[in-house]
Amino acid sequence: MKKWNKRWTMTLLSLVVCQFAFSRIPVIDDGHQLWLSMLHNQQLAKVQLSLTYDGSSTVSPSKTVEIAINELRRYWRGAPITLEADCGQKQWEQGDEGFTIKRKTDGGLLLKAHGRDVGLLYGAYYLLRLQETGQPINPVEQRPAFGLRLLNHWDNLDGSIERGYAGRSIFWNNSPLSTQAAANSSLFTLHSSLLEEYARANASIGINGTVLNNVNASPRMLATEYLDSVRTIADVLRPYGIRVYLSVNFASPMKVGVEGVNGGKPLATADPLDPQVAAWWKAKANEIYRLVPDFGGFLVKANSEGQPGPGDYKRTHAEGANMLADALAPHKGIVMWRAFVYGYHAGVEDRVMKAVNEFKPLDGKFRSNVIIQIKNGPLDFQPREPYSPLFDQLHQTPMMPELQITQEYLGQSRHLVYLATMWKEFFEQLGVGTAPADSKQTAVANSPLSTLHSPLSAIAGVANIGLDDNWCGHHFSQANWYAFGRLAWDPQLSSRDIAREWLCQTFTDDSHFVNPMTDVMETSREACVDYMMPLGLHHIFKGDHHYGPEPEGNQPNFPDEWKPVWYHKAEAGGIGFNRSSTGTGATAQYREPYRTLYDSPETCPEQLLLWFHHLPWTFLMADGKTLWQSLQDHYQRGVDMVDSYVETWQQMRPYVDVRRFREVDQRLQHQQQNAREWRDHCIQYFRQFAQPLGE
Ligand code: GCU
Repeated sequence: MKKWNKRWTMTLLSLVVCQFAFSRIPVIDDGHQLWLSMLHNQQLAKVQLSLTYDGSSTVSPSKTVEIAINELRRYWRGAPITLEADCGQKQWEQGDEGFTIKRKTDGGLLLKAHGRDVGLLYGAYYLLRLQETGQPINPVEQRPAFGLRLLNHWDNLDGSIERGYAGRSIFWNNSPLSTQAAANSSLFTLHSSLLEEYARANASIGINGTVLNNVNASPRMLATEYLDSVRTIADVLRPYGIRVYLSVNFASPMKVGVEGVNGGKPLATADPLDPQVAAWWKAKANEIYRLVPDFGGFLVKANSEGQPGPGDYKRTHAEGANMLADALAPHKGIVMWRAFVYGYHAGVEDRVMKAVNEFKPLDGKFRSNVIIQIKNGPLDFQPREPYSPLFDQLHQTPMMPELQITQEYLGQSRHLVYLATMWKEFFEQLGVGTAPADSKQTAVANSPLSTLHSPLSAIAGVANIGLDDNWCGHHFSQANWYAFGRLAWDPQLSSRDIAREWLCQTFTDDSHFVNPMTDVMETSREACVDYMMPLGLHHIFKGDHHYGPEPEGNQPNFPDEWKPVWYHKAEAGGIGFNRSSTGTGATAQYREPYRTLYDSPETCPEQLLLWFHHLPWTFLMADGKTLWQSLQDHYQRGVDMVDSYVETWQQMRPYVDVRRFREVDQRLQHQQQNAREWRDHCIQYFRQFAQPLGE
């Protein structure tokens, strides 16, 4: 409770500071205002409203439209705007979230929602973004590439966050919200204002859904008192166009009761084919929808890393997912079933092949309201991975990518690593965002994600948000939250443009700041790859917390798939994991041309060489260097880049407030030390195998 009080005291304090912050560079800025920080000059702009409802114009604005109007009235400095929407019942609830902007003959602007009222809110933030980043306002038609653009919070009910590096949960704190609210209503008011800030930030970048709890889900999440909290949260987020979803534990019926089934007592089984279990989930879904009528659905991690699942009863993922899907279908809810599954069959099965092996035989066997959620790479959010080949193998089942915004393996919130470049690389491999600009097709049309027989289209990002003053731990980690939202809306945007936008809105639009810092952000992911896992090395992180190098990692109590030595396979004869047709055969899971490209060391991109091949230390790289020399050069290059970031940041002092300057500076110093540790530790370790060859 103490920490919450501190958080809210800080929030109030920062509000006071902001009120007095008239200059564009405040003396102290805690970063809490995110990319909306420049929106502090209160205007009273002219905004007109023209809403019709089935032809009649007597309809009053929804809360969502009111928010759009207020944002524009307060912050818009351009021509008068007319907002227009035809909110016939159907469009109002579902359908196109896009908007059109036109110039009117009197010089004013027309912002028109295509279908849903939230189009006006997105249009309002679009205009404010252009204003704050100094871009021209041209006629435009915008609609999101992905229908569902979701954050996944790995927040536990006790307030801790799995892989969270920015403080405790903004949603949970040991007890349900309703109890907290009853205990202290002023605390609750503050909490809902924090949630509202969260909702506003998300709406400003087009995020329209959020999963409120960890995929390693507690069954208690579905207990009635916690569902009351879910209703409270949903009520705050709804006007901002955000639906809530929950991660569910597959064995929940064995831990929690539901009215009308087994006398309200937990069941003895969670077997998806048991009628009582199906009845339990139906009753639970009904209970949820009574509280949250627009509840989005369930996210499920099953039979993975110790979580329960249908496999416990010798049932398939499809049988498990379909049973949940049937419970949600009457309410139009969906099931997002994760493909992140692996067991302990080292030596028998290569972990990166597991998802295809398990899900390909089930293609076409899922209900239409099930979507398979797949991590971008086949292993686990490494700084560089090839894309997951499961995207190539499902043809009749909707799929959604899962990206990780929280930097579990990318220096956590201590390193400046901008992830948009990594996500763009993934989109390019998948063909997302490659449709021509004038095309009427969606941005995913040319990719395996386009499931013509299904309207489900979605993308998720594992959130990096907590109760820290600046939400994300590192000020620059905010850019990853921002970039996720922007790319989920439009994957054709360039990472560079997104970085510039974010810098202008979050810090200053002075080019002396924006240009060098855009370069830092753009190069930062490759630098991280260089000092952590050059040439396709992977999973050589310290066990458990995944921060820092441990190439020697070989803990006897760990399964092989958790051991760094299993992944790099360094020995006197060479280094790397042979996944080609002469090894585990993982390359065969890819579509052409990737299958052929990856299969041979001669054609495999050097960036992924040791992911797919085990090669001698003397292997010759394209530039004529040996593999061993090249590895050392990459480690050094990564460290050199971080050295240059530290220097660049020193030049930024005149453009940044004192607090953020100092905090970023401290983190960069830390990153520099850690990058050196990676280089020194890994080179020293690998040298014992490489050096006897006379290199
Ligand atoms: C990684 C991560 C876990 C997480 C898991 C998942 O293994 O380290 O903390 O639970 O991914 O995505 O389910």
